[in-house]
Amino acid sequence: MRSTIRTMADTLTITDNRTGKQYELPITDGTIRAMDLRQIKTGSDDFGLITYDPAFMNTASCRSRITYIDGDKGVLLYRGYPIEQLAEHSTYLETAYLILFGELPSPKQLEVWTWEITMHTMVHENIKKFMEGFTYDAHPMGVFVSTVGALSTFYPDGKQIFDEHSRLRQIHRLIAKVPTIAAYAYRHSIGRPYVYPDNDLSFPGNFLNMLFKMTEIKFGVNPVLERALDILFILHADHEQNCSTSAMRGIGSSHVDPYSALAGAAAALYGPLHGGANEAVLRMLKEIGSVQNIPGFIKGVKAGEGRLMGFGHRVYKSYDPRAKVIKRIAEQVFEVTGRNPLLDIALELERIALQDDYFVTRKLYPNVDFYSGLIYQAMGFPVTMFPVLVAIPRTAGWIAQWEEMLLDPEQNITRTRQIYTGPKRRPYVPTAKRG
Ligand code: CMC
Repeated sequence: MRSTIRTMADTLTITDNRTGKQYELPITDGTIRAMDLRQIKTGSDDFGLITYDPAFMNTASCRSRITYIDGDKGVLLYRGYPIEQLAEHSTYLETAYLILFGELPSPKQLEVWTWEITMHTMVHENIKKFMEGFTYDAHPMGVFVSTVGALSTFYPDGKQIFDEHSRLRQIHRLIAKVPTIAAYAYRHSIGRPYVYPDNDLSFPGNFLNMLFKMTEIKFGVNPVLERALDILFILHADHEQNCSTSAMRGIGSSHVDPYSALAGAAAALYGPLHGGANEAVLRMLKEIGSVQNIPGFIKGVKAGEGRLMGFGHRVYKSYDPRAKVIKRIAEQVFEVTGRNPLLDIALELERIALQDDYFVTRKLYPNVDFYSGLIYQAMGFPVTMFPVLVAIPRTAGWIAQWEEMLLDPEQNITRTRQIYTGPKRRPYVPTAKRG
């Protein structure tokens, strides 16, 4: 089929050059509806024209009111609020409330929300037993994914996804329990006893307590590290329709409970192309070893021998706004923990890359992962915990996107189309007759 395409003010006109037939497709929000293409038939037995979009590079799968990104300008907004302002003034719990419910909480709402989250931090003792079954060196993210999925067996009421009160209960449970599960996964991986939540502490303070408390009666939280972790949580709370969020929506569209859907989303985050890049940055910095080796490394990257990890982004074609905030808090963290020696290499790499034509013309700037690993490492986290540290705050985004999907009357169970390229219909060949 050949066709010509023309756009008018708010419509797209497609002419089928074989039949001369014209189709007028409405353009709304810079988008045409893929289903409007169905009326165009490529043959008499064809059910209609479809689009081919591997990796969904140019397909909007939903309307969303949660997160806005302008990749060219380096803008990230949660419910309209710039990420920089939230990182400056808000806490993770306030931000999670904003992402989930659409508005910043009033003082009373914040008090109730904080109380609910604090009261749900404990996990069933059987979850501890279940986690003890993992091998001593189990990757904390693998443990996290499995345990979050297992929560569905502890909370069968989570299946009541169209009951608003039930949904809210699962939201409280998920936001409150993911740090506990993450901390237990970490303690398990290093063979230390699990630490129960301390409800006197803040959300990040309690997380640090569950990770690092030893024999002391009360864990002393360092306020600089507590705030730095809270800011990192704010920066990672949502990032619109990325791989794991799409997984959350896609799995949730079958109307499974949120624990099962969230386990799937966390599994998507586990992959090195998504939640694992900060680990790759650390490995790269270690390999470079010293500032003198940077020119040689950059030369190799430009020759296609490898990538400058922590640089470049599918959406951001300018400085990732999250990276700017992280770079600033890195200095504060290092004042407490001591300077991470890899920071000098990172700073020099950034300086050189931002002046180099290769990176400038390709619009490659530092992304969120360039400095976050350095902070995590300085705070005492092993690299295996890095994706878990993203999964904790991203839980707010995943659930908000899941709920938005559930309540959107336009949504249905997710199912994409395919172009079949396999063999045509053929008769079965018995075993004895196969060559
Ligand atoms: N180092 C060197 N060259 C690069 C890099 C890099 N980090 N990123 C892209 N390029 C080059 C690439 O080789 C290509 O060059 P050419 O046009 O000559 O072939 C050009 O830039 C465009 O690359 P692309 O792969 O088409 O760009 P993309 O938008 O599809 O890729 C990316 C985005 C994040 C996969 C890529 O920039 C990358 O691999 N970065 C390093 C890994 C990394 O830091 N990932 C974390 C992403 S942020 C986490 C999150 O938000 O989930």
